[in-house]
Amino acid sequence: MRRVSDAAALRARLDAWRAAGERIGLVPTMGNIHEGHLRLVDAARRHATRVVVSVFVNPTQFDRADDFERYPRTLEADAAALAGCGADLLLAPTVDVMYPDGLDLAAYVEPTHSARPLEGEFRPGHFRGMATVVTKLLNLVQPHCAVFGEKDYQQLAVVRAVVRELLLPVEIIGVPTVREPDGLAMSSRNQYLTAAERALAPRLYAALQAAARDGAAPDAPLAAIEAYHTKALNEAGFRVEYFQFRNAQLAPPAPGDDRRVVLAAAWLGKARLIDNQPFAVARER
Ligand code: PAF
Repeated sequence: MRRVSDAAALRARLDAWRAAGERIGLVPTMGNIHEGHLRLVDAARRHATRVVVSVFVNPTQFDRADDFERYPRTLEADAAALAGCGADLLLAPTVDVMYPDGLDLAAYVEPTHSARPLEGEFRPGHFRGMATVVTKLLNLVQPHCAVFGEKDYQQLAVVRAVVRELLLPVEIIGVPTVREPDGLAMSSRNQYLTAAERALAPRLYAALQAAARDGAAPDAPLAAIEAYHTKALNEAGFRVEYFQFRNAQLAPPAPGDDRRVVLAAAWLGKARLIDNQPFAVARER
């Protein structure tokens, strides 16, 4: 696996692949590669003949300076893990490459409807920074397809909306969440949990699963289910930011929805966990 950090070296490699008729897949990451990322690479390999993985801790998508500073940076270990799973190229750009005129940007990609609720409410500016850097990465690599995890359900929805709205010629592929054996969704931020918090953490997904089961009835009392799990998680030691049902497109649930999703974000100690459970709504008999 080759490693490049600037646009010229990247372009030289991509031009050669394109000339040879290769189909290019991009897996954007912020590094600290774990099994969840490796599944994204697997998916990219199924949809493309060459896989580019980007590792870039994007400063513009962090709503808190302390979160950006302590975000784990493990580039050498990441390179080894990616080389071992069949990635062809590691793109590890510097901030100067991604933001040549500095962080006081002359232009942003500002996602609208899909970015406002949920994460948008609690992490102001996050989706603007994320959509901006993803658009820059798509422009740099110009891949045929790009792969994102469904753990960040809203991020995937925002990326799909931006790609549709800006007519970007790329196929967006979502990959199911990869979980630890006890159900906790894999995330680089799980390492901020103490041992006691780690033991408690799977309750978030258990609550989402229970809510999805109870919320699947056509006449389910969704607000009451949300309130029940919010209270139970807070009493268990989480600090819940949201625990909400939405339809599959993230609009508020409405009669006639076929598919819904229940999404949550909660602090546990110094870790902010997010997770979701999509489900089908049962039909009335
Ligand atoms: O999901 C992430 O790791 C990041 O938000 C992404 C998509 C790589 C953009 O920085």
